Amino acid sequence: MRFKKIKLSVGLGVILFGVGCFSTATESPEAAMDGETVTYYEHVKPIVDDNCVVCHSKGQIGPFSLNTYDDVKSHGLVSKAYVTAKRMPPWPPDNTCNTYKYDRSLTDEQINTFASWVDGGMLEGDPATTPQIRNNDQEGLSRIDLTLTTEEYTPQQMSDDYRCFLLRWPEKYTKRQYVTGFNATPGDLANAHHIIAFLASASQVSEYERLDANEVGAGYTCFGTSGGPVIGVVGVWAPGGSGRDLPEGLGIEPGALIVLQVHYNTLTSAPRAAQVSLDFKIDDIVERVALSLPWTDPLWWVANSMTIPAGLSDVSHSFSKDITSFFTGGRPFDIYRASLHMHMLGTKTSLVIERKNGTTECLLSIPRWDFNWQDLYQFSGDPIRFNPGDKLTIDCTWDNTAENQPRVDGQLLPPRDVGWGENSTDEMCLGGIFGVFVE
Ligand code: HEC
Repeated sequence: MRFKKIKLSVGLGVILFGVGCFSTATESPEAAMDGETVTYYEHVKPIVDDNCVVCHSKGQIGPFSLNTYDDVKSHGLVSKAYVTAKRMPPWPPDNTCNTYKYDRSLTDEQINTFASWVDGGMLEGDPATTPQIRNNDQEGLSRIDLTLTTEEYTPQQMSDDYRCFLLRWPEKYTKRQYVTGFNATPGDLANAHHIIAFLASASQVSEYERLDANEVGAGYTCFGTSGGPVIGVVGVWAPGGSGRDLPEGLGIEPGALIVLQVHYNTLTSAPRAAQVSLDFKIDDIVERVALSLPWTDPLWWVANSMTIPAGLSDVSHSFSKDITSFFTGGRPFDIYRASLHMHMLGTKTSLVIERKNGTTECLLSIPRWDFNWQDLYQFSGDPIRFNPGDKLTIDCTWDNTAENQPRVDGQLLPPRDVGWGENSTDEMCLGGIFGVFVE
C-alpha cells in the first residue's frame, strides 16, 4: 500500500490514508523525522515486523529471529550492514528497470531510519509509540478451491536436493477450468528453498511417469527444470511468499499433470520428512487465458553455442528476436509478469523490449544474480504490450573464474568450460514472460 502521512503530534501518532495498491512507498509511517530520536518501538519495530519477521522467526528460513527488541538489538550491527547494502530483505530486481507488485525492498527512508537507530545506540523507546500499520501488499489467496499434496519425502542429497513430484488433477478438474490463484506450503519451511509448479500436456505424461518410476522413493531428481518439456508454469513459491491470485481476469489452463520441482537446502538444518501442499483457486470462466512463454536462444542448447570458457570473469551471451515470429502467430502479446533463470555462475541478467521505433522498455533486470532468490515478478502498472516488429532481448553474464565456483563438500570445484545443461554445474540463460495474446 502507498500511504500518505499526516503527523499530528508525537504521542497522538499518525493518521493514514491508503492510496494505490503497491508498496513503492514514498513516505512510510515509521520514518523518523530529521533530528528526532530514533527508537525501536516507534520506528524500527514497524519496519522489521513488516519486512523481516516473515522469514526471521522461529521455524522460518531466516537464520535467526527478529521478533523482539533483544533479538533485533543483538543482530543490529550485522543487520545494518545487510540493510544498507540492500542484501536484506532479499529483493533482486533493479527497481529502476520496472516496478513490481509484492516488492520487498525497503525505501531509502526506511534504510536510513534503521541505520540511524543502530548508530544512535539502538534505543528501546516506549511500546505505546508503535504505530499499528502494515505496509506490505496483502498476499495470500482470496479463496481456496482445491488442495493437492505430495507424498512424503526426506531430502537425500547434500546440501541441495532438487526433487520433482508428479501431481494429477482430480477427475472433476480436467474439464475446461482455469487456475486463477496459487499457493504452495512446504511441509518443512527450514529446508524448502523454492518451489516451481510446471504444467505438462497429456502427450508428455508418459515421459514424466518414466522418470518418476526410474527412482526409488517419492519423485525423482531434477535440477533447474522439470526434467522434460512443459507447457507452462502455474505458480512458484519462494521464501516469504504466501500465495497470490493471478492478475484480475486471467486464468491458466491446467494441462494434464503438475510437475512440482522442490529445491531443498539442508545446509543449516537437518533433513526431515515433509509433504508439500498446493492450494488452487479455480474458476469456470475467465476473461482471458494466460500462458507463459520461455525465452532463450534455441541454438544455445541445440548447437551447444552458449560457451562460457573456464577462467574468464565476464562472459556474456544475448539473444534478441521478435517473439511473435516464434510463438504468437503475429499477434501482439500483453505481458503481466517476467522471470529470469540462470545457475550458479551467473552474475547479472536482463530482459528488455527493443521497440521497432528504437526505444527500449526494461521488463526485468537482476544486477546481482543470486541463484537462491528467484521469483516471477508482476508489474505494478499496466501490462506491457509486445508488438510485432519489436524484439525481446535476453542478456546473461557469468563469472567462470576459480573464485566463483560452486562448493561441493566445502571445496570450490575447479573451473571448467561450461555450456547449456540441466546439471547444477551447467548453465542456463532463460527468460519467461507471462501474459495473454491480444486478439
Ligand atoms: C524472504 C525471507 C527473508 C526476509 C524477508 C528477510 N530475510 Fe534476512 N535472511 C534470510 C535468509 C534465508 C538468510 C540466510 C541466507 C542468506 O543470507 O541469503 C538471511 C540472512 C540475513 C542476515 C545475515 C545473517 C548472517 O550473519 O549471515 C541478516 C543480517 C538478515 N538476514 C537481516 C534481515 C533483516 C534486517 C531483514 C528485514 C529488513 C531481513 N533479513 C529480511 C531471509 C530473509
